[in-house]
Amino acid sequence: MYNIFSQMDEDQEEERILSRKHLMEDKDEVSMRPRTLAEYAGQSRIKDNLRVYIKAALERGEALDHVLLYGPPGLGKTTLAGIIANELGVQMRVTSGPAIERQGELAAILTNLEEHDVLFIDEVHRLNHAVEEILYPAMEDFALDIMIGKGPAARSIRLDLPPFTLIGATTRAGLLTSPLRDRFGMIHRLELYSEEEIAEILKRNAALLSIGIDRDGLEILSGRCRGTPRIAIRLLRRMRDFAQVKGCGVIDRDICSVGLAALEIDEKGLDNTDRRVMLAMAEIYHGGPVGLDTLAATTGEDPGTIEDVYEPYLLQIGFLAKTPRGRVLTDQGFAHLGLVPGSRTGTKAVLDAQMALRDLTEISDEDSDI
Ligand SMILES: Nc1ncnc2c1ncn2[C@@H]1O[C@H](COP(=O)(O)OP(=O)(O)OP(=O)(O)O)[C@@H](O)[C@H]1O
Ligand SMILES: [Mg+2]
Repeated sequence: MYNIFSQMDEDQEEERILSRKHLMEDKDEVSMRPRTLAEYAGQSRIKDNLRVYIKAALERGEALDHVLLYGPPGLGKTTLAGIIANELGVQMRVTSGPAIERQGELAAILTNLEEHDVLFIDEVHRLNHAVEEILYPAMEDFALDIMIGKGPAARSIRLDLPPFTLIGATTRAGLLTSPLRDRFGMIHRLELYSEEEIAEILKRNAALLSIGIDRDGLEILSGRCRGTPRIAIRLLRRMRDFAQVKGCGVIDRDICSVGLAALEIDEKGLDNTDRRVMLAMAEIYHGGPVGLDTLAATTGEDPGTIEDVYEPYLLQIGFLAKTPRGRVLTDQGFAHLGLVPGSRTGTKAVLDAQMALRDLTEISDEDSDI
């Protein structure tokens, strides 16, 4: 069966510490995941709903309605699925959209479920069409329609399945087909976490990692991780190393300044790549509007990566805005770079990023001179 670690292969090349995606270094994430709703920080609206539905399903002795969880990577979809199964007191089977290639594979998974079990399908938007069709009657009527024989003699028989709960997770709810989306009884969008919620997660994980972190440390780190638990936990681990080697074993203000400076993460939680994207907009396009593809070509990044990884946070903190004609860098964005809109002189703080950008744009500048 699909293993949650297999997602690491495709992510190995992505080494950015502030990446929301699962990286190699997050591998012991699984053992540190919270197991109950009480341990799961934030997302209070979703938790309140789930508490009611889980209690009701248990009292009626029924399977919980199917749940769709969506939102950016690292916000806790897989964790929440595990918690739901745990709170229901049932087993969870884990698979993912791209891992199921044929109808028969899904049929085998479904027929092996026990009553009220949870089937978790990660990246549910990547199920292929034929496989998805098997899922419709399974979700709606707990039935499996299979074809026996070929040609004119072919006939379809219907098998009963035990009532089960499908939990689907996706980072791209927009890519889900509407027949599939309509079959989920609950659709929850996970939100970015507030700094207080992240601080709670940091406290819990610091205890699990047996590392001390003081109030300053909590405050600083919770402002640097883009409202994303996975990044928070990753930064915590890195700071633990700094605390161990350079300090007295406690993550405090000094350790955070040394550690975050070494990782080139600034006070807004932006790294060099974020600054490079912003700087390209400021220096080359005078703040925009600039189209996604143009921006991607200028910065040497993939358009999808800019859209999914860098942009959401920059939009959220108001450094970038989207207009019908393209992305624009806001006045706050300019201010963060130490630039004034319309002016072309940067401060010392952005020189590194400028150099990096110049390397990338040199070739196109030469071309245009000819
Ligand atoms: N609300 C929370 N409270 C405590 N820890 C959390 C919470 N949400 C996420 N985490 C922690 O953050 C890490 C990432 O969470 P998880 O793997 O569930 O994210 P995800 O949304 O499934 O990401 P992906 O889209 O990459 O699959 C885990 O280590 C988990 O323990
Ligand atoms: Mg996940």
